[in-house]
Amino acid sequence: MSFLEKLKTKNTQFCVIGLGYVGLPLAVEVANVGINVTGVEIDTKKVNMVNNGENYIGDVKDEELKKAVEKGLITATSDFSVIKDMDVVSICVPTPLNKLKDPDMSFITSALDEIEKYLHKDLVIILESTTYPGTTREYMLPILEESGLECGKDFYLAFSPERVDPGNPVYLTKNTPKVLGGVTPACTEHSKAIYEQIFDEIVPVTSAEAAEMAKLLENTFRMINIGWVNELAIMCDRLGVDAWEVIDAAATKPFGFMKFYPGPGLGGHCIPIDPHYLSWKMKTLNYKTKFIDLAAEVNTSMPEYVVHTLMDGMNMHGKALNGSNIMVLGMAYKNDIDDLRESPAFDVYNLLEDRGATVCYHDPYCPSFKRNGGMVESVPLMAELLHSLDAVVITTAHKNIDYQFIVDNAKLVIDSRNATSGLKNTEGKVLRMGGGRKLED
Ligand SMILES: NC(=O)c1ccc[n+]([C@@H]2O[C@H](COP(=O)([O-])OP(=O)(O)OC[C@H]3O[C@@H](n4cnc5c(N)ncnc54)[C@H](O)[C@@H]3O)[C@@H](O)[C@H]2O)c1
Repeated sequence: MSFLEKLKTKNTQFCVIGLGYVGLPLAVEVANVGINVTGVEIDTKKVNMVNNGENYIGDVKDEELKKAVEKGLITATSDFSVIKDMDVVSICVPTPLNKLKDPDMSFITSALDEIEKYLHKDLVIILESTTYPGTTREYMLPILEESGLECGKDFYLAFSPERVDPGNPVYLTKNTPKVLGGVTPACTEHSKAIYEQIFDEIVPVTSAEAAEMAKLLENTFRMINIGWVNELAIMCDRLGVDAWEVIDAAATKPFGFMKFYPGPGLGGHCIPIDPHYLSWKMKTLNYKTKFIDLAAEVNTSMPEYVVHTLMDGMNMHGKALNGSNIMVLGMAYKNDIDDLRESPAFDVYNLLEDRGATVCYHDPYCPSFKRNGGMVESVPLMAELLHSLDAVVITTAHKNIDYQFIVDNAKLVIDSRNATSGLKNTEGKVLRMGGGRKLED
């Protein structure tokens, strides 16, 4: 029975490689349409949790995962040999940068080496991990063709970028349109046939490269626009104008404008990293990207700018940063989630310690993190502690924090997220980054 015929029987065997922020929600969506999913994950702790129906990803509903596991629709393993019985493999492994900011393809390579061992006729392989244009055809295809099987005839290979926005209550894995491009037209047709059973809308494009580039366009668009509004905040501080007010005013234009807000820098596994995949690829073609490099320069300078804003605020209070006690409020890279990856709050934390401050942190989503071989724990938000500190630096504006309580009890608040806008009792103690460089009056 061919793959397309088997799809009609609903007896498809679906494999997700890598059960992280992308892979676990995908596995649950696949199970939700009644298709059997086997997750292959190298972290045995995650394997055990999934098999016990225990959820560890914020965007996955505990009950949905539990039910799917109880019904036998989702199982997890670290044994790649299950691939020999699979019809579809979606690869959701990390694609970080190495120390030189070049693509680290080691996770994709090790997943591919395993797939190649168990590659069989009619297998559909879809890469979800963000990567540089050309990865699917130039990098993955030669490894898979070592099996002697022919792509587009014996097996099918495509790229379909994951677009998950952690914490977004409206757009989740299922209802976010899915761009998809195969290495051959048959690859697109086969991948589309399975994905349209799972996702609400498939957007086929004519090649894997177009799909890879579409993902990089989306994320680079964000990165560059965030760079622009971060520079806007710096300019507005010099001009004595409130950048946040300016952005909201501009956003009343009903066409041709999209809102982005300044902050302490880029975070997460996507926006600070993905554009460098494109820069790297272009370098191999003797082309130096300009917008990406400039936005990266502005964005990576933002933690330093937050610390300078703090030093200005402390100066207004006649204090030095050296020897002071500072709280970093919010360690996750964005509000209302627990993801610490690439969070600029760590850069702020490190810069403060480097300048001789004693630093503590509070984050309701991140109770602790590893640092210098030990663990640092979130301190409780208590009035007494706030009174004893020289300043609080808001790095992530989690919605479940009472910012009025912070303003009422802290001596000085540096707000890099506009969390204190419109609050009372800010006079002489709140300095909002991008707010026009004045203690609120
Ligand atoms: N997190 C997001 O919001 C997001 C959004 C869009 C795209 N992406 C992209 O999706 C990809 C995955 O990101 P993520 O956030 O899910 O990462 P993650 O670190 O949360 O999950 C990846 C999982 O893969 C596992 N893994 C690593 N190597 C493996 C291997 N060889 N075999 C099996 N499992 C392996 C890891 O143990 C981990 O559990 C990345 O390329 C990322 O850029 C992420």
